[in-house]
Amino acid sequence: MRSLSIGLAFAGLAVAALAQQRDPEPVWITLGADAAPMAARVFAGNAGFALIRSGERAAMARVDKSLLPQLSLLMHEEFRRCGGFMQHPDYETAWMTATEQVGGRAAKRGGFTPPALDRGAIIDALRPDIDESRVIDVIAALSGFHTRFYTQPGGVDAAHWIHDHWTSLTASRNDAEVSLYQHGGFPQPSVILTIHGSRFPDEIVVLGGHLDSTVGRFSPTLRAPGADDNASGIAVLTETARVLLSSGFQPERTIQFMGYAAEEVGLVGSGEIAAQYQADLVDVRGALQLDMVNFPGANGDIAIIVDFTDSGQNQFVRDLIDQYVNADWANAACGYACSDHASWTRSGFPASFPFEAPMGQHNPSIHTVGDTLARSGQRAEHALKFVELAIAYSVEMAKGELVDGPSVDDWFTVVDLAVIAAAFGPCPPEDCPGDADGDGDVDADDLRLRYLDWNRPKAPSP
Ligand code: BES
Ligand code: ZN
Repeated sequence: MRSLSIGLAFAGLAVAALAQQRDPEPVWITLGADAAPMAARVFAGNAGFALIRSGERAAMARVDKSLLPQLSLLMHEEFRRCGGFMQHPDYETAWMTATEQVGGRAAKRGGFTPPALDRGAIIDALRPDIDESRVIDVIAALSGFHTRFYTQPGGVDAAHWIHDHWTSLTASRNDAEVSLYQHGGFPQPSVILTIHGSRFPDEIVVLGGHLDSTVGRFSPTLRAPGADDNASGIAVLTETARVLLSSGFQPERTIQFMGYAAEEVGLVGSGEIAAQYQADLVDVRGALQLDMVNFPGANGDIAIIVDFTDSGQNQFVRDLIDQYVNADWANAACGYACSDHASWTRSGFPASFPFEAPMGQHNPSIHTVGDTLARSGQRAEHALKFVELAIAYSVEMAKGELVDGPSVDDWFTVVDLAVIAAAFGPCPPEDCPGDADGDGDVDADDLRLRYLDWNRPKAPSP
């Protein structure tokens, strides 16, 4: 009773205030679902207030600025909340914020603590090493499997191809390894590349994307190239890991790159892994999802998916883009648990999902035989922005430093072909370096070119 009469009193105040000074400038507010009916009752018939949406947990309204003081008082009296609502400049921002609050509301252990952005020098040193042709090669190799559907031989072979290729990236490191994560009930494994942290090995930073493809779950044997969805995400993970590993970057926290099995049939692979990590009390500091990254929308922006993600980590990702990536961002929402980030969110870990384009401007060919590299002009230009972001995310989340070690270049400047010849004996011409750079002599430069060529991602054998 008391609350109703106070509510009505404020309604009177509100009307009086409105009569005096009508501010036609609207703002949009988000408020708890419990507070929405009261506000709607109090301002019933007031043209300055319109309840736009009201769901189970959150509501949204358009309010004349002049009504905000009354609304504040009402919230304070009725719900003992200071403020009790959030104010936004436009409908879009209000809706995105409400969605983010609802989607990212999963039970969290401690939540997300944004690390300081203090590793710019390392990120700047790594950026020039990013190589578009390698990203293209991985997308081409993976979309070359007939299908990567989770029940099919191609789906298993593709996982092994990723395992073998990632293993080749760790060859020079004793702090990194690759493993297969077997799931129950279907043959396709997930793949995990781990770089162990030097100081806080139990604190884990996850970067992941799904490795399977589909053209519909009732067409498991049909051709499903899945170049954008999601060979592109795996290619970004691969190039990120390659750049970090070959540079000698040693993280303080452990970094895990994950290729998830069976996403297209209900986030199954990532769901099992995230649930397992939750049960084992693994300290996952954050998960970054890479799914569809090579088809730019009209402006080439990175879309930050705000539902089923962590608002704190999303802001950190926006800050990383502003600071380190040659791209703009815009918020967007899937409206449902559209990819593996939702598995981490469900298990209580902070997850973010930077996506290729605003919803509706994304690749229209996914889940069809037309999802090929040709759809992106045989290029991986857009995906490179995500490599930059993934490198920045890895380095700032895991911290660490560049440790001097022999690089490929160092090794090939000191290697003496005569010593190799003496050690291994004469070799048939087809195995010898040859004049790979065409400068008329056979020397260490030729051996270096041969080595780099050998170390490129290779197309799967048919
Ligand atoms: N990459 C898509 C998700 C996606 C598609 C995000 C379009 C944004 C725009 C993902 O591989 C997928 O297809 N997800 C499924 C849902 C999943 C739970 C089976 C989907 O969207 O139908
Ligand atoms: Zn898909």
